[in-house]
Amino acid sequence: MSRLNLAILISGRGSNMDSLLRATTEDAYPAKPVLVLSNKADAPGLDAARAFGIEALAVSHKQYESRESFERAMHEALEAHKIDVIALAGFMRVLTPWFVKRWSGRMINIHPSLLPAYPGLNTHARALEAGDSEAGCTVHWVSEGVDEGDIIGQARVPVKAGDTPDTLAARVLKAEHRLYPEALADACRLIIARQAS
Ligand code: GAR
Repeated sequence: MSRLNLAILISGRGSNMDSLLRATTEDAYPAKPVLVLSNKADAPGLDAARAFGIEALAVSHKQYESRESFERAMHEALEAHKIDVIALAGFMRVLTPWFVKRWSGRMINIHPSLLPAYPGLNTHARALEAGDSEAGCTVHWVSEGVDEGDIIGQARVPVKAGDTPDTLAARVLKAEHRLYPEALADACRLIIARQAS
């Protein structure tokens, strides 16, 4: 069975990364993790990835003059590791059209809202302020517009009386951990089918 070389891009804690790494231990999973890359050298997820036996690299955006030179450095690392598919998992840098074009159809993201509602930041506070009865998360293809690409999958959770942004975030995060491995597998199967045709 063909398995795509997977890179996971993070900026922090890496709990979604962890759920993806666990899923890839199944023989039938259509991707194998090759590299975890963070734009922050102190991201806790880097050590978690190493503990999992995966190469983990920091490419600190602060060391580059421009967004594009930072992205060129990431792109080189990804090419050097023969990456087929990228999963953004709490990667908190907006990517330029230069990078997005290079990875078009091969890069997906998880976002903590039911897109198209609440692209960008502070999704849970905005859902509570709006009085929504439901919240959730979305996995989508990455396109040039922030959080605008075609949707691969969504998971819904109820908003409960007395929720704060933190309690809602914790409920949504559990749903993220279930959704992302399934949605990444769907995306990989599509990429493999496309390569075969
Ligand atoms: C997750 O909730 C993810 O959806 C969100 O950051 C968190 C990262 O947590 N991503 C975004 O907001 C991207 N716009 P994690 O590091 O524990 O996976």
